[in-house]
Formats: sequence, C-alpha cells, structure tokens
Amino acid sequence: LLDRWRTRREAGPVRYDEDQKLWQVADHRGVTAVLADPATYSSDFSGLVPTQEDFETFRRGNFVGMDPPAHRTLRTLVSQAFTPRVVAGLEPRIEAITGELLDAVADHDRFDLADALAYPLPIIVIAELMGVPVSDRGMFQDWATTLFAGDGIGESLDMADVEQALDSIAPTVREMNGYFLDHIRQQRKDPGDGLMGRLLAAEVDGTRLDDQEIVGFVALLLVAGHITTTALLGNGVVTFDRYPEAAALLRAEPGRLPDAIEEVLRWLPPFPELGRRTTRDVELAGRTIPANSVVMANLATANRDADRFADPDVFDVTRSPNPHLTFGHGIHFCFGAPLARLEARIALRQLMDRFSALAIPCRDEVELQNPAVIVSVRRLPVEVR
Ligand code: HEM
Repeated sequence: LLDRWRTRREAGPVRYDEDQKLWQVADHRGVTAVLADPATYSSDFSGLVPTQEDFETFRRGNFVGMDPPAHRTLRTLVSQAFTPRVVAGLEPRIEAITGELLDAVADHDRFDLADALAYPLPIIVIAELMGVPVSDRGMFQDWATTLFAGDGIGESLDMADVEQALDSIAPTVREMNGYFLDHIRQQRKDPGDGLMGRLLAAEVDGTRLDDQEIVGFVALLLVAGHITTTALLGNGVVTFDRYPEAAALLRAEPGRLPDAIEEVLRWLPPFPELGRRTTRDVELAGRTIPANSVVMANLATANRDADRFADPDVFDVTRSPNPHLTFGHGIHFCFGAPLARLEARIALRQLMDRFSALAIPCRDEVELQNPAVIVSVRRLPVEVR
C-alpha cells in the first residue's frame, strides 16, 4: 500500500488515469482545493450511476453525497441532535464498554483484536446512540462490511461493473431501509431524549427531517461511523507494532496519545481517497479537467506531501502540527471526527494500561479489508502480556 501511494505521489500532482478513466489528484494543495470547492467538484454522483429504487430512498438523508444547499440543510438539522456535548457525554460509556470487551478476553494471551475490540466497540457505541438493540450488532457489522467491501465495490468505474456491484448490495440496502424505518416509526410514538428523539424534533426554518431522511442519516452513521473507527483502532495497533520505538515512547509518556492518534490517521487514512464529479471544465495544477469527469482526491498521498509535512515518510508520533486530510476538508469534513478520536484515545489507552506488552506475533495472519475502499484490518491476531 505504501509503495502504491508513493508511486501515485511521484506521478505528479494531477494526472489522468487511462485505465480507470478518472483524474487523480495527489498533492495536499490540490486535494484541499478540490474538497474546498463543492460547486466545481460535486459529491453528487446520482447522475452517473444507475438509478435504483432501493438506493433512491437510502440516498435522501445521506448528505455525504449531496451538494449545497440540500447538504447544508440536512447537516444543520442533524448537528442539532449530534452536538459536541452529546459526544463528550459518551465518554464514561465508551470507557465502560471498552473495559467489558477487554474483560471478556482477560484470560487469553492470544486473541483477535479486531473481533474482541476494534469491531464491537464502535458498533455498540453507535447502536446505543441510536437506541437500536445492541444485540443486532452482528447484523450491523454484516451490513457495513457488505456496503464497503462487497464484491467489486470501488474496484472499477465501468458502468457494467458499477451496476453489478450495486446489484450485489441492493438486498442489504433494502434490509437496512426496512429495519430503520420500523425503528423510526416506533420511536415516533415515544421519541424520548436520545439521538433519535432529537433527530425527530430537529428543525431548521420550519423544516423537519422526514422518516426517509432519518433512515438515510442513520444508515450513514452506522456505516461511516463504525467501520472507519474499527480501521483507526486496528491501524493504530498495526502501526505501533511496526514502530516499537513509537509504542515505547507512548508508554513512557501517555499524554502524547492524542498526537500519536493524529499521526496514525495521517499514516493510514481509512478512506485513502474521496471521489468527486466536475460540474464544469476546471484548471488544476496546469491541467484542464473536463466537465463531468470523476476526480479522486487522494488523501493518502496528500498526507505525505513533502511541501506540507517534514520527513513525510517517517512515522513520528510527536508530529505537531499535523494538517492531515484524513477526515476530509471543507463542508463535508467528517461529522464524527470528535467521536472517532475519543473512542481511539480510550481504547488505545486501555490497551496500554492493561497489557505490559501487545504484539502481532505473525504479520501474515493480519487480514485486510478491500483496500480499494477502506484501509483496515479484518483480522488482527495479537499476543499480550
Ligand atoms: C464524512 C472519514 C468516523 C460520520 C467523512 C469524510 C471522511 C471521513 C474523509 C468526508 C467524506 C467526503 O468529503 O466525501 C472518517 C474517518 C473516521 C470517521 C477516517 C474514523 C477514523 C466517523 C464517525 C462518524 C462519522 C465515528 C459518526 C458517528 C460521518 C458523516 C460524514 C462523514 C455523517 C458526512 C459529513 C458531510 O457530508 O457533511 N468521514 N470518518 N465518521 N463522516 Fe466520518
């Protein structure tokens, strides 16, 4: 992966990829420019991909794929329910859930950290936040895995391949729609003061979210909010194993953990690239990108741009400032970044406190997700003392 990113970076800031039929933007300045200009670089791909009823309903509250002004209205509505106070208030529960998950493997000196902690922690947090039964979490995990890593997802932009990939995930989308619509209808009867109650009550200029918009948002939260955080936890453990001197420094000075987490985010961004569609001909770094092109803003290479990062190929947990683009930039900047950071801080801290040593005994046994879509472990066997 690191070699692939290096090759991309060395190929220049802006380049047309003949094989994939899309534009690659690799430098920090270019990626920032793309993400900062939604009027030119749209997030709405609905005109490019085939329309299917299941996806139409799913898309309505899913504002990561929207442009202004619809994006702004939805994001503002949803922000009313998902405030910094709500996130900060989750801290004791996240501590407790992490503790319980690690208690469950307390008698083992070898276990799969993905199964034990990295998968369940973010799912349980989101399920509790949404007020859906935590016992359904196996199903949520399967849904997210299918949507992110289903056969052929993200591997080709050829229309026939896209259609085939969408067909393969349509049943999952239908099942999710049904599940959350039922849940929301139940909640309307007795909204309460949880996230769902606040979503139902949120109002901007007299507008409220309808059921389908809530379904879209909740599905977005579930998918965007858990597998990415799983990725961050796993990537942290993998990277600290690879750079033991960094891990030793953290054990000696745990106050450095927040900076270390930023460096893990820079080093292995869970979403290595973000797609946009041009709405007009546009010039970038001396190249003219025609209207209606797909542009990939490559976060992984931007995070290693020597113009912005001293010694970009050195993993440095003391790096500060660290202007990585792993949570995106501009109007779509990750909504869940404070939650992801909080979960990572608590989980990695508890791992360090509980175990005097944590190692990956056999790197060959670490299994990755589909790296075309997400940089994350699927299996992470560890040995602890
Ligand atoms: C948007 C990354 C965790 C919810 C984004 C974007 C990125 C990202 C790159 C921008 C997408 C774009 O511009 O097209 C990550 C990473 C995470 C993480 C790396 C963990 C390490 C979370 C969590 C939640 C969440 C925990 C929810 C609780 C969202 C939402 C958006 C978003 C709702 C859409 C924002 C918008 O379109 O305005 N995320 N995310 N993310 N993320 Fe995250």
